[in-house]
Amino acid sequence: MKATVFTPPETKLVIEEVTLDKLGPQDVRVTVEASGVCRSDLSVLRATAEAAGSAGAPPMILGHEGAGVVTAVGTDVRRVKAGDRVIASFVPECGECWYCVRGESNHCETYGGSGAGHVTRSDGSRPLGMSGLGTFAEEMIVHEHAVVPVRTDLPSEQLALIGCGVTTGVGAALWTAQVKPGATVAVFGCGGVGQFVMQGARIAGAARVFAVDPVPMKREHARQAGATDLVDPSSADPVEQIREATGGRGVDYAFEVIGNPNVIMQAYDATRPRGTTVVVGMAAADATITLPAVPLFLQEKRLIGSFYGSAQIRRNFADLVALAESGQLDIGSAVSRRIRLDEVNDAFRAMEAGEVIRSVIC
Ligand code: APR
Ligand code: ZN
Ligand code: ZN
Repeated sequence: MKATVFTPPETKLVIEEVTLDKLGPQDVRVTVEASGVCRSDLSVLRATAEAAGSAGAPPMILGHEGAGVVTAVGTDVRRVKAGDRVIASFVPECGECWYCVRGESNHCETYGGSGAGHVTRSDGSRPLGMSGLGTFAEEMIVHEHAVVPVRTDLPSEQLALIGCGVTTGVGAALWTAQVKPGATVAVFGCGGVGQFVMQGARIAGAARVFAVDPVPMKREHARQAGATDLVDPSSADPVEQIREATGGRGVDYAFEVIGNPNVIMQAYDATRPRGTTVVVGMAAADATITLPAVPLFLQEKRLIGSFYGSAQIRRNFADLVALAESGQLDIGSAVSRRIRLDEVNDAFRAMEAGEVIRSVIC
């Protein structure tokens, strides 16, 4: 099968013919029908390429936002069968560890970052699969805990986005922050994930949603996602703009959906006393933030993180599918471009140029 392989420190992905392993007892073979290109793919590429320097590092198949159809399963697999449509999850849910039994499976102890990619290249090397997946390929072999079967007629490109952007975004609003009806919300960063934070806020019944992004196309798209107020951070201080519009207090909930420590502080400053700031973006591995301690105490602000939308994939993927089927959640409009596997490098360029909400490999 074909896969795009990233060989650090080279930053261009190269499409190659690779050989898939035989299935292990708990493995599932999936034909990838759609795969979104997320900023985390680019972050991993950059960080890995930099760390590798000239020393080299294991090759990798990137991609962690995908959906497809099961074609074969290992002898011990019980939860899926050939023919099932599945959404891949970059955090597996084993169902049995300390976190899974407490309903906190997005912290499942089997989450291991880059797992074996289950493929061999013509030169004999064995690429890793990003986060145990590696969706930038025609097929993949993954652990059964990393796929969730879904019964739906939604197109695969929409199911793929549930694998990361939709769940991360909608989940941050609904399951991490638990936005209340009538709330005021600000979303800093209106990309593939931020658009879904706004939709989550809208679904929760937020009264007012501020969309903060320097790119006009992103702000326009935000209106469709439920934004009521568009804020251009390059024209004036976004914190001042939000405060001015909220009686000087700030919003009930502010989400940072970029991974920029400075913007995390802006989100914090735009949060009202006793409000909640939610960090959704993945910052650089060595990034830090510094807070003044007394206002934290005096104003009773809550600063929390949201990883994978606090989602419980076995239940919540189905919830998101149902929301999309009922029309409350619009996933389709986030698909800006449908591309081929060999166009993934250009998708990274388009992401950086602010041309797309999501490119999806179909
Ligand atoms: N203020 C507001 N918005 C900004 C700023 C800023 N200072 N700088 C960049 N942005 C906007 C970009 O214009 C873009 O629209 O942030 C958005 C980021 O969106 P994407 O590049 O599409 O990234 P996305 O895939 O949504 O991921 C966002 O969530 O899951 C994490 O790892 C992911 O950290 C990443 C974050
Ligand atoms: Zn992602
Ligand atoms: Zn677990």
